[in-house]
Parts: sequence; C-alpha cells; structure tokens
Amino acid sequence: MAAIFSRFKGRREELIPILQAVQEKFSYLPEEAMQQVARFISVSESRVYGAATFYSQFYFTQRGKHNIKVCCGTACHVKGAKSILEAFERELGVASGGTTEDFKYNLERVACIGSCALAPVVMVDDTVYGHMEARRVTECLKTDPDSKL
Ligand code: FES
Repeated sequence: MAAIFSRFKGRREELIPILQAVQEKFSYLPEEAMQQVARFISVSESRVYGAATFYSQFYFTQRGKHNIKVCCGTACHVKGAKSILEAFERELGVASGGTTEDFKYNLERVACIGSCALAPVVMVDDTVYGHMEARRVTECLKTDPDSKL
C-alpha cells in the first residue's frame, strides 16, 4: 500500500484513482486496504465503502487474473452464445459470474460488446474471438500466455 500511496497526495478527490490502483494491485478491494485508504485521505471507512460500491468497476472478493466475457446479446444469442457459455463453464469448472478456484479466470456473461457482425463473440482479456464455436473454447484458453493446457 505504501507504494500506491506514494503516487498520491492524500486528498479526498483522489479516492477513486486510489481505489483503482488498489484494485489493479490486488484484483479486488480488500477490506483492510479500504481501511488504509480511508486513513490516508482522512475520510470515514463508510465513505470509502460507499464510493466503491457505487461503481460497478470495483470488486470486493478476490478475482481471477484473466477475464473471459461471453457475449449473450441478441445477435450472439441467436448464433449459439448459450452453448459457448456452457462450454466455458464445463472447461473451467465454474458457473457464469464466478472465478476459478486457482483465481486464474473470471467467467462473465455480458450484453452486447459492440461486435455483432462477428457474432457469436467472446473476449479473453483484450482479445476478441469472433464467430466463436463451443469446440474452440479449449483453443481459446490455450492462447493465454500462462496457459498450461
Ligand atoms: S450481441 Fe454480441 S457483440 Fe453484439
């Protein structure tokens, strides 16, 4: 936390950037870290918690290193997004919205990600996989730089 705090002046208006930095380091906002942030910028813990819960970008439980987003918007839905999501759930052993036990992957079902022409679409971190098929799920996971598949 000291390394994070060294990048800021301890002002109240820095709350969100500080929380973003904390989440970047831990992949979520640990309770103890939020207490330290409150002390650093001299506000109540409830104010820090209130701000953090207002924004959907913040997480309060440990997250995986990689984010897999399976688009289930209309265009992707009609082209078989459900079977792709189920294939990821089977392959990773985790339900949509969950994190694998080794904290390697988060699996999310999302609405349209703006690439309908490529439907069905999956994103693994910043990589977009268009015209996705359930049988390509394993191949998709193999492209992860620290994949052991
Ligand atoms: S509905 Fe999936 S990208 Fe638009």
